[in-house]
Amino acid sequence: MTEVSVRNLWMEYGDQIVLERINFDVPAHSFVSLVGPSGCGKSTFLRLLLSQENATRGQICVDGEPLLPNPEPDRGVVFQKYSVFPHLTALENVLIGLEFERGGFSGRLHGRAKRNAQAEAMQYLEGVGLADAAQKYPSSLSGGMQQRLAIAQALIKKPRILLLDEPFGALDPGIRSEVHDLMLRLWWETKMTVFMVTHDLREAFYLGTRVIAFDRVRKREEELERYGATIAFDTPSDPAPFVTELATAEAAE
Ligand SMILES: Nc1ncnc2c1ncn2[C@@H]1O[C@H](COP(=O)(O)OP(=O)(O)OP(=O)(O)O)[C@@H](O)[C@H]1O
Ligand SMILES: [Mg+2]
Repeated sequence: MTEVSVRNLWMEYGDQIVLERINFDVPAHSFVSLVGPSGCGKSTFLRLLLSQENATRGQICVDGEPLLPNPEPDRGVVFQKYSVFPHLTALENVLIGLEFERGGFSGRLHGRAKRNAQAEAMQYLEGVGLADAAQKYPSSLSGGMQQRLAIAQALIKKPRILLLDEPFGALDPGIRSEVHDLMLRLWWETKMTVFMVTHDLREAFYLGTRVIAFDRVRKREEELERYGATIAFDTPSDPAPFVTELATAEAAE
């Protein structure tokens, strides 16, 4: 259960201010949807949360502690596309996270350690409905299956914070709503805090417990580089019906 607080965060590239004065707190087990026009700094903000880059000013704290300057395994990420390795099977794609974590310098596991890791990877594949596709390569999986694989690959490292950058943007509407409910179930079960960037407002409000919009306050051409985007809109949203179902089922147990 992880709280995140963002204090007076600024991000500048050279003379260009991308983000300015970003302040917010999210309680543990939030699902935050981030929206805003193209180029307003949503992916940049996710990179700051991952510590792939460091803010020019201000601070992000996780459970009260400032983020370390380099990426840590407690934060996982899923991008819109291409986050799985094409030359590895579905099972190997999930396993590789554990091999890097437990396999030392060689990044390889052997004997019982390998069998245990394979069993664990299979559980994650089952969790995203891909047990039957364990031996397939990504090129023979549909877009929705590849995204579910990318989600399993991120989750096996048990991140406390999961970052999603337009993860469902390329999926057909029918498949997308299935993956939405899968994502809500995984979020509910793991108690992770999720930050998801999306361009789809319906998706933002359906999945998010909170919807935050970044936008520039000043938009005149000559002002574009001198002012960054900041929070233009921030609101809790109603839980998705699927979350109410999950909560009711849990209460009945
Ligand atoms: N490494 C970098 N060096 C210089 N400028 C950068 C860098 N990364 C991003 N930018 C600039 O920061 C701004 C925000 O980019 P970012 O990718 O965060 O936007 P975004 O909100 O994710 O957009 P989109 O919705 O199109 O994905 C853009 O003007 C971009 O050119
Ligand atoms: Mg982006």
